[in-house]
Amino acid sequence: MLVYLNGRFLPKKDANISVDDRGFVFGDGVYEVIRVVDGKLFLAKPHMDRLKDGLAGLEIQVDENMVHNLMSVAESLIKKNDLLKGHGTVYLQITRGVAKRIHNFPAVDVQPTIYLSTSGFKPDLELQKNGAQAITMSDIRWMRCDLKTINLLPNVLAKQKAMDAGAFTSVFIRDGVVTEGQNANIFGVKNGVLRTYPRTNYILPGITRALVLEMANEENIVVDQTPINEDELLQMDEIFLTGTTTDIQPIISIDGKQVGNGKRGNIARLFQDLLHKRMTEIPSRTA
Ligand code: PDD
Repeated sequence: MLVYLNGRFLPKKDANISVDDRGFVFGDGVYEVIRVVDGKLFLAKPHMDRLKDGLAGLEIQVDENMVHNLMSVAESLIKKNDLLKGHGTVYLQITRGVAKRIHNFPAVDVQPTIYLSTSGFKPDLELQKNGAQAITMSDIRWMRCDLKTINLLPNVLAKQKAMDAGAFTSVFIRDGVVTEGQNANIFGVKNGVLRTYPRTNYILPGITRALVLEMANEENIVVDQTPINEDELLQMDEIFLTGTTTDIQPIISIDGKQVGNGKRGNIARLFQDLLHKRMTEIPSRTA
């Protein structure tokens, strides 16, 4: 298994990072997880655009061409690791680099640390068919949830809490409304209308979320980006999560109470089929 670190492809066991890396010390970095289907990157451009936004948000300076080139690096890594059939993911992380531990940014000549790896991935089709259980949890994250930073401690704690409760996921509640899941965006359906939290600093602008909104538009499904109140949650006909490693995941119970008829809903089913179709029709990347 090869990875890419700072300009070199090398075996994962030989990929070492300094203990002074600001990613390690401060969580000072951003990341992306990109889906791979039959060797092709799914929705590469929006992932790269979000990466650029994240770097700009954290004021991490990376040469524009270098960022652009990362998709070719990802494609080389996919080939080198023989991930050309079935599903996989590319993990991409950029930190501010290695420097003496001071809170302010280091001198400009400090180079960012750039790391990419690949993994095989198996979508959980049974869970996507049967639906999953969720618990609610207070959204204790900071106010820049729109940046995909490597600081994921609230998300880690939320997932563990869900697992401890025998559930699949936590859904975050902030100021009485549902923002998103700990690693996925969330949608509700009521009387055929799709509801989701609007694109603000309180959620990650998910690439899968954007695709679902695009597909909803194509299917003439009405979208209402008014946040779902906590007490509205159980009145929804359907709830589902969206994400790169979540696909379209119906939620059939929240805090032990049934959602809708307790089964995967028709709208979730429709988006599952549409997403699957998109994944089998990935155009080749041009340059
Ligand atoms: N997580 N919201 C949060 C908090 C996330 O961490 C993610 C993705 C999403 C969905 O975004 P997208 O559709 O672009 O994957 C929403 C990744 C997959 C992760 O941390 O593993």
